[in-house]
Amino acid sequence: TGAVTYDPGFVNTAATSSAITYIDGDKGILRYRGYPIEELAEHSSFLEVSYLLIYGNLPTPAELDAFDQRIRRHTMLHEDLKGFFGGFPRDAHPMPVLSSAVSALSTFYQDSLDPFDDEQVEMATIRLMAKMPVIAAYAYKKSIGQPMLYPDNSMNLVENYLRLSFGLPAEPYELDPVVVKALDLLLILHADHEQNCSTSTVRLVGSANANMFASVSAGINALFGPLHGGANEAVLNMLRQIQDSGEPVEKFVERVKNKEDGVKLMGFGHRVYKNYDPRAKIVKATAHEILEKLGGNDELLEIAMRLEEVALTDEYFISRKLYPNVDFYTGLIYKAMGFPEKMFTVLFAIGRLPGWIAQWREMMKDPETKIGRPRQLYTGEPERMYPSR
Ligand code: CMC
Repeated sequence: TGAVTYDPGFVNTAATSSAITYIDGDKGILRYRGYPIEELAEHSSFLEVSYLLIYGNLPTPAELDAFDQRIRRHTMLHEDLKGFFGGFPRDAHPMPVLSSAVSALSTFYQDSLDPFDDEQVEMATIRLMAKMPVIAAYAYKKSIGQPMLYPDNSMNLVENYLRLSFGLPAEPYELDPVVVKALDLLLILHADHEQNCSTSTVRLVGSANANMFASVSAGINALFGPLHGGANEAVLNMLRQIQDSGEPVEKFVERVKNKEDGVKLMGFGHRVYKNYDPRAKIVKATAHEILEKLGGNDELLEIAMRLEEVALTDEYFISRKLYPNVDFYTGLIYKAMGFPEKMFTVLFAIGRLPGWIAQWREMMKDPETKIGRPRQLYTGEPERMYPSR
């Protein structure tokens, strides 16, 4: 079968070609479909960026409006799917609830499962974009025992998600423009990141011609891991532990350097960015402004800034090219918006959804796509005879 290349973690192996996202890890460049992330963060909206990633170009105003309207028309969940949420324990983490409900979409919407039928792929795209934020909000409502609201289709995707998360049936929900804008920005920053762990998972599952719901559900489970999307939640837990224990930041950093109990500086380091993470730069710049407006926890922000300062001047982190990644400051902003820690990775998932969809669609159209099937180096026993007893 020829020579096998050994590359654990795919550090040097390109598993696909792709025209969606460009990253230069040394220069700290990130572009979606050619547009620098800084430009999109400043001028675009999450809805527009989603369109850009999925369809390849920025939409005209009419195209954007049509995309928006189609998504609004599909926000409602099948009533039987709503019943799903009652089956989970009250203290369930919303990520597995989200992945389970997204997986279940393929039982409710059987007319959008064929990966090679353009209309069905389009229906699956719109349904996922419309319903995943609703599922996410219901997973949250379930965890706090509050009633689930019906979507209000006079609102766009981001506004609807906020109202479904924080609104109550008996009271009108007032959108805070600061929160809407901040959430929109964070979703843009998470929208795609080429072949990261969850996206590679979506592609691997999809390479077996699994439907879009099944593939995205798998991606959500990959994202749940604390080394990937789960890092934003882990960062806040880390900051809070430092706050509660009163441990000096320098001492905590010492423990990280000594790899005591495998403790890591969460929100630091990246497989590709070895200079800085351009997303982190944007988040850091806006974190102060947003936290000031929303009244975030100043002490946790102080600890985060101090940690960054100590780490960035320390030989351990310098020599390993470890810099803050996108997750280092996002948790503080989500917290100030009113989201509990458990929801942070769910927010990442909502943001990453258009990227997963775009990558899945690209793969299905790529004539070079083959079923994903890595090789291995066998290290087990040589042939053994079954003992006669
Ligand atoms: N704290 C302390 N040491 C670290 C850290 C960290 N956060 N990250 C890497 N290192 C060390 C690591 O121990 C190794 O040291 P040594 O050479 O002495 O063995 C060296 O740096 C190289 O690290 P690596 O584990 O080989 O790097 P990787 O590319 O395999 O891992 C990573 C990348 C992001 C998984 C890792 O940096 C990490 O675990 N970071 C913390 C979790 C985190 O913040 N994840 C979010 C990533 S960004 C959002 C996303 O897209 O998921």
